[in-house]
Amino acid sequence: MSSSSSAPTTRPDVLVTGGAGYIGSHVCVELFNAGYRPVVVDNFSNSKPEALRRVGEICGEAPVFYELDLNDPKGLTEVFARHSFSAVMHFAGLKAVGESSRIPLTYYRENVGGTLTLCEVMAAHGQSRLIFSSSATVYGDPASVPIDERFPTSATNPYGRSKLMVEDILQDMAAAPAADQVVPWNITLLRYFNPVGAHDSGRIGEDPAGIPNNLLPYVAQVAIGKLPELSVFGDDYDTVDGTGVRDYIHVVDLARGHVAALKGLSTAGAGCRAYNLGTGRGYSVLQMVAAFERASGRKVPYRIAPRRPGDIASCYANADLARRELGWSAEFGLERMMEDAWRWQSGNPNGY
Ligand code: UD1
Repeated sequence: MSSSSSAPTTRPDVLVTGGAGYIGSHVCVELFNAGYRPVVVDNFSNSKPEALRRVGEICGEAPVFYELDLNDPKGLTEVFARHSFSAVMHFAGLKAVGESSRIPLTYYRENVGGTLTLCEVMAAHGQSRLIFSSSATVYGDPASVPIDERFPTSATNPYGRSKLMVEDILQDMAAAPAADQVVPWNITLLRYFNPVGAHDSGRIGEDPAGIPNNLLPYVAQVAIGKLPELSVFGDDYDTVDGTGVRDYIHVVDLARGHVAALKGLSTAGAGCRAYNLGTGRGYSVLQMVAAFERASGRKVPYRIAPRRPGDIASCYANADLARRELGWSAEFGLERMMEDAWRWQSGNPNGY
């Protein structure tokens, strides 16, 4: 285990697993902004320490970090011995749907196994406050939209199943009789819709390894000329223009949703609660392409391709529960998401 050094501080420490990743790095910035001190654990399997250095550029202070795998209980125990965390935010995990069908065991080991180790070490240190990075993927193919938190959950691939398994495990932990719990678990599951955009400094953003799987990074790489054209996966869905509709949410809004959830943990008491983090609005693939062209001033050539297996027509959130109970709602619109995505892509054509 290697670590960076830190100055003494009285701010509450928050453990951020996977804090060097796309969402985790933006959450670190918002934690600093809200007066917390993020402490990052990351194995850099799909992220770079440079992201944390740039968080330091933005905030005037970089997160303390430990290069560590979550499946290393000894190393994790050392981190918990060094800090008294006010809460844990758990982002670390693998997230490529296609890859998860090729190497399911690795996905379960990392996503499920890593969470089990984390929870065991938390319990051993009397730590019970956890915010888990879940996904709208747990709704499977929803019967209707918008989707609220009471919709049934299901999974269609090992990635989605790993998220759902973790949700179920955390629910079971929190539902155990109080007398049998080592610590009374206080857990929030955050179900993300489609995070896009970047911090407005243009210094941190999404940095996918290889060819992007997700729409926005792909469109951005076409706009900058790294990829020749976008394949639009299907134009015969029952949507506004036949292409898939999703609820794209600015990653800074998403990060602020975590800070709201963190504050909510203090008052919520024991239990396990789930919240959608989305805008409540859906846009089609072609609407996204047009918006990106406007923001970037670049052409995004595309062709219509067959549907991608496992894709659904429409997915967007009912985000009322987070507004009512966490006092959070998304602020940034589509134009701002695209401007910030383009600033990041054009300033960092090869990522970090
Ligand atoms: C995907 C995952 C989901 C995961 C989420 C966040 C799948 C089937 N689902 O969601 O489990 O939680 O990412 O990482 O992979 N599209 C194109 N061309 C492209 C890429 C995407 O037309 O090159 C379309 C898709 O068909 C979809 C929309 O763009 O309609 C968004 O796709 P994507 O960004 O991959 O997100 P999801 O499929 O919603």
